[in-house]
Amino acid sequence: MCLLLLGLAALALINPATADTVLITGSSRGLGLEMASQYAADGWDVIATARSPDDDDALQALARTYENIRIETLDVTDHGEIEAVAAKLRGTAIDVLINNAGVLGNPDQQQLGKLDFSAAEMLFATNTFGPLKISEAFLDHVAASDTKKIMTISSIVGSMTNTTGNIYFYRASKTAVNMMMANFAVDAKKRGIIVGMIHPGVVDTDMSAPFNIPKVAVEDSATGVRNVIAWYTPGTSAQFMQYTGEPMAW
Ligand SMILES: NC(=O)c1ccc[n+]([C@@H]2O[C@H](COP(=O)([O-])OP(=O)(O)OC[C@H]3O[C@@H](n4cnc5c(N)ncnc54)[C@H](OP(=O)(O)O)[C@@H]3O)[C@@H](O)[C@H]2O)c1
Repeated sequence: MCLLLLGLAALALINPATADTVLITGSSRGLGLEMASQYAADGWDVIATARSPDDDDALQALARTYENIRIETLDVTDHGEIEAVAAKLRGTAIDVLINNAGVLGNPDQQQLGKLDFSAAEMLFATNTFGPLKISEAFLDHVAASDTKKIMTISSIVGSMTNTTGNIYFYRASKTAVNMMMANFAVDAKKRGIIVGMIHPGVVDTDMSAPFNIPKVAVEDSATGVRNVIAWYTPGTSAQFMQYTGEPMAW
């Protein structure tokens, strides 16, 4: 009996129960930083990516608080860097990948009469092509996990049904990422991967600062987004959801 217990204890040391792993892009501030904090507090292994983490004091402080946070440098517009980080993390199963990094751009350059089309390139590179490239690069990591989820933080402003004018390029970059990820969901399904697009609310972060409208606290948005991520199943993959758990019109 004693030998049996010793054997089981040794086995537990060799095969410790592993925590789920989440990779979050754009973890330096705002929603990404808050989601990294909440997942870490819940015991997840967090791969918090940021484009210039050495300058990101809040993220560095969070990583000092939680030893289960690992920081990786990742600019979502730099495809070579995306491939390099994916190669570095080869063999690491990623349960949930969250495409969170995003930019609004200058709203003044996105008004009718002042449209500056050169501003659109950065928006599409970040908000649309970044999530698709990252989802492709980390496909094997997610497929190797138990949970197998790739989630993208989209926006109500990308909804064709809810459009209200202005911020042309930002809106279109979010509409386009919804199409990219809905299409990606068809291919990813063959690997058992669940895909989601989530509107996080109008969140009180740097991004929403130009808009004087009611906002959701970042803590509440992150909690809601995490609940919706947990809600997704193979049967609900590829749906466009709000952080409240309600469906979002395309
Ligand atoms: N706030 C809202 O009301 C709202 C509403 C709907 C959807 N969203 C979406 O929610 C997501 C998070 O936004 P937020 O409100 O947290 O905005 P935020 O406070 O402005 O944070 C944006 C994050 O994205 C990162 N980022 C920007 N460009 C990047 C790049 N090329 N590579 C890597 N990281 C990059 C930023 O990093 P740096 O610190 O290095 O700039 C920052 O961490 C975005 O996708 C946004 O479109 C926000």
